[in-house]
Amino acid sequence: MFYHVKELQFDARVSSPDPRFATLLLEQFGGANGELKAAIQYFLQAFAARKPYPAQYDMLMDIATEELAHLEIVGATITMLLDGINGELKDAAEQTLMTEFLKGPGKKEELLQQAIVNPQFFALSGGSPTLTNSQGVPWSGTYVDANGDLTVDIRSNLASESRAKLVYEYLLQFTDDPQVKDTLTFLMTREIAHYQMFASALDSIQPNFPPGVLQGDPRYTHTYFNMSDGGDIRGPWNQGRGAWESGEWVYVSNPRDYVEQTDGLTNAPVEGTTETRESTDAMNRQLGQQRSTEVKSAIQSDPNQWSKFADGSRSSSASVPHVEERVKSK
Ligand SMILES: [Fe+2]
Repeated sequence: MFYHVKELQFDARVSSPDPRFATLLLEQFGGANGELKAAIQYFLQAFAARKPYPAQYDMLMDIATEELAHLEIVGATITMLLDGINGELKDAAEQTLMTEFLKGPGKKEELLQQAIVNPQFFALSGGSPTLTNSQGVPWSGTYVDANGDLTVDIRSNLASESRAKLVYEYLLQFTDDPQVKDTLTFLMTREIAHYQMFASALDSIQPNFPPGVLQGDPRYTHTYFNMSDGGDIRGPWNQGRGAWESGEWVYVSNPRDYVEQTDGLTNAPVEGTTETRESTDAMNRQLGQQRSTEVKSAIQSDPNQWSKFADGSRSSSASVPHVEERVKSK
């Protein structure tokens, strides 16, 4: 159930109208890294998480709902930045916008600049946000990543929050309005906070690597192929333990020879790890069973019920007063 409160989460203000910045800000309303994308992404991910991971489900729904609150803040800011435009457009008989073109070179230049950014925006929206990005491209469900595996989904969210943070950082450079800057700084900061929430949530699921259930083939997990010439640079991504919990990288400096010598890698030795094909097979079975049990044991039957209400059943409907009776008794 959703319940709307009319006041914004953050007291968004605008010093003066700025249609050009309103157009840019659409990027965070209906763009690929915007607030609607984030809200829908976490909302969608929450369905599969609800039963096996009730704690992380609670977090996903809290953040999804906060993103909707941010969508509202962005929409309100866009509307305030456009205040006056709607009124001008409604004065169709006066053809205000057209007559502005005739009021001298300065005004004409300004209007042309606004039109260059996104001409349809002014023609279609009439002074309120449109569900598009700053270039007028409609919002799309393909922006949303939800894979039904919580560790995969949370990793997508870390990337989403990083991109959203960066877009706010860029947007901050295109406005001088201190009030708008305050709002953008708030929104940017919440992306940082969300990133840390998701990082902690990922850590709370163990094991969480590799994503999903199946382990990698130990013949290939710890191998680094030097696939380009022009300097063999070594770093933690191809040397030492790197991000591995155990084992270390095996650097193949000449992949052409290596592939040939190992019959197209089919006879590649297990190197850099103490895992064996037998141990990873056993891990696959154990983890598969664990994850399957987590999901199955979370599913109720007779009936499979999404919510639990205080009275625990619907069988006692006779004792529930009619709506009018409840209103009268208030
Ligand atoms: Fe966020």
